[in-house]
Amino acid sequence: MTDKNPQGPEAAIPVILARRVTGQIGVGIEKSIGGHMLRLQATLPARYREADEDALQSMIGAARASLGKDLIILGHHYQRDEVYRWADATGDSYNLAKFAAEHPDAKYIVFCGVHFMAESADILTSDDQIVVLPDLNAGCSMADMAPIDALEEAWDFFDQVLDIDEVMPITYINSSAAVKAFVGARGGAVCTSSNADKVISWGLSRRRKIFFLPDQHLGRNTARAMGFTESDECIWDPNADFDAVDEVRLKEATFILWKGHCSVHQRFTPEMVHRFREEHPEGKVIVHPEVAHEVVQLADYVGSTEKIRKTITESEAPSVWGVGTEIHLVRRLAEEMAPQGKIVMSLDPIVCPCSTMFRIDAAHLAWCLEELASGRVVNRITVDPSTAEHARAALDRMLEIAG
Ligand code: 13P
Ligand code: SF4
Repeated sequence: MTDKNPQGPEAAIPVILARRVTGQIGVGIEKSIGGHMLRLQATLPARYREADEDALQSMIGAARASLGKDLIILGHHYQRDEVYRWADATGDSYNLAKFAAEHPDAKYIVFCGVHFMAESADILTSDDQIVVLPDLNAGCSMADMAPIDALEEAWDFFDQVLDIDEVMPITYINSSAAVKAFVGARGGAVCTSSNADKVISWGLSRRRKIFFLPDQHLGRNTARAMGFTESDECIWDPNADFDAVDEVRLKEATFILWKGHCSVHQRFTPEMVHRFREEHPEGKVIVHPEVAHEVVQLADYVGSTEKIRKTITESEAPSVWGVGTEIHLVRRLAEEMAPQGKIVMSLDPIVCPCSTMFRIDAAHLAWCLEELASGRVVNRITVDPSTAEHARAALDRMLEIAG
């Protein structure tokens, strides 16, 4: 390691075989091990670790003001309030990707969200725009369930047993840039939870089969809402032995669903919905499409984080809502809606935060903004040009289809 790390010995992480992700000072590394992305965020300097909440908020305010129009801050709905309140735009993955693409004048885009969101923003913006993720360890466990080498192996296998020209690959935006590029290079598209139905319909108008990854639940829930049944699906388990694959099923299925899931959303069960309905017979249930199909079947509404927010915000008061999604969005809605006489609660009595979204806190935001304000870029997320070119094709197709 040749660069001096200004953050003390605990931040001195070896960078052998690793790709540096920072602009000017060493703050962390990303490396791929066995197709899985390992990200290492160096410990923050004491100035941030030891500051109290008020001090951190003042630092963020001052740095943001000094960066002026050069900066936009994007905040996903699962973010902590201490950073969400600073966002110039808040929304679901689709809104935020679109917002980034529509702001070519912003020099810096600080993404309070997770890694795949920042990568998508980098792909959709110009080379001289800089996307920063305040904590490099803010990944997505679902995206990590689809490493690029496992996808390549799956595709090679399909090529042997199927007519590959009939297979349309569609990846949920919760996937790495490498996966998006693989899909884009084969004529496929990205989708989000707010447009999976449109993207799948588009795919089926061009090819007979959909290969959907990495979230089996979003794939299944969307297919079922379109009228398909269990007999139209088969699961692709990237960890199973190829000898165990049911080739007949693979050939017949309209949907091949990658066996991935979100551990936060997989917690929601039909029993939780039944209990909520017993306790609140007048209540409404709304869930994210990453929850299991048995739960979706019992819900009144299903949709992206933005749809959840909009549906509850625009509902008539008084009302009671049982929500199946990450707790930060649920708590924020509960607080905002209470004065209007709307009661909002999680379907899950045990709190289920997304531990990676949770990593972005006021200290990390203050640190990266102060560094930017001092002319130093930290935690820049960049996608190499050839990956970005194909990944962009897949993202652009989504933007075109979804409008
Ligand atoms: P949305 O696109 O609905 O915000 O979902 C993103 C996500 O990661 C949900 O777990
Ligand atoms: Fe990924 Fe689940 Fe967190 Fe969404 S809630 S970012 S799918 S781990």
